Amino acid sequence: MRFDLAPLEGVTDFTFRTALCRFFPGADRCYSPFIAANQTCSMKTREKKDVAPEHNSGVLLVPQILTNRADVFVWAAKEMAERGWTTVNLNLGCPSATVFTHGKGAGFLSDPSRLDAFFESVFETVPDGIRVSVKTRIGIEDAKEAPALLEVFNRYPLDELIVHPRLRKDFYKGKPDLDAYRLFYEGCRGNLTYNGDIFSAADLEALLHVFPRTCRVMIGRGAIRNPAVFRMLRGGAGPDAGELMRFHDEVLAGRMEDLQGFANTAGKMKEQWFYMGSLFEHADRYLKAVKKARTLEAYRAAVRALFENCRLAAC
Ligand SMILES: Cc1cc2nc3c(=O)[nH]c(=O)nc-3n(C[C@H](O)[C@H](O)[C@H](O)COP(=O)(O)O)c2cc1C
Repeated sequence: MRFDLAPLEGVTDFTFRTALCRFFPGADRCYSPFIAANQTCSMKTREKKDVAPEHNSGVLLVPQILTNRADVFVWAAKEMAERGWTTVNLNLGCPSATVFTHGKGAGFLSDPSRLDAFFESVFETVPDGIRVSVKTRIGIEDAKEAPALLEVFNRYPLDELIVHPRLRKDFYKGKPDLDAYRLFYEGCRGNLTYNGDIFSAADLEALLHVFPRTCRVMIGRGAIRNPAVFRMLRGGAGPDAGELMRFHDEVLAGRMEDLQGFANTAGKMKEQWFYMGSLFEHADRYLKAVKKARTLEAYRAAVRALFENCRLAAC
């Protein structure tokens, strides 16, 4: 079974990924949050830094690109190949309004014929040796959109099709639509990866019960909540408080250096706690203090209090 870390914009930056792979090995590959490759074929400094090989040591990275232009995608794919990353992923899932209204991310799913033309052009021009994969939702408003999308995906030699079985209108609410996923499970001609709401070995077991041929799973929030999830899915131990604290401290220190201070680091750490908080029992008041911390000292004290006073929940 292959397990990959999903991209989470704002959380799974290079600091998080390298610390995860060092403290909790088990993810086969890590996806970068999307790089919004723009029409002038340039990347932001932050995006360049995030995919730089020297910032991803110990990580097998799959950079993700957000665009609806084949020429821009191919440009970005070459940029990634120059850095040594030979698989590049297209984001067809981002539900956010700004992305969606520009016909990118999940917005690109609205027009399967345009998507078809995009892939035709990409596969005509992308250099040999660069593999192209796709991460998609099952549609925008209705799962009935899925067959037309699968038909397009099946026409091209995708390295992999990662399906998050929610609609754009669902954002991350409700349950993944496993009935709609069956269409991909039965009809996808290439490698298929499942993504969505896998938080524990029991969740994986339930998925395998319904889809026994599953051999690739991508995990996002489950790995932010519990960084040991990949190890556990491989039959290993759950997290212990000590290693979790060392992992947290490494991420904090890395971001403090990268983002030059607590003001820029705080938001990312607090977003991480939004997921990781539920790993601790009876932690509400301690998490509140973490959220309220305005200085590095206050933040550190709040985190220390949480680790000292709250037990890890069974996971
Ligand atoms: C805060 C946040 C940021 C995300 N950023 C990205 C992104 O940059 N690219 C992407 O393909 N998906 C992104 N996603 C979606 C996740 O990769 C994943 O598909 C989703 O969370 C479902 O998987 P999970 O249940 O394992 O978390 C994001 C999700 C969240 C909650």
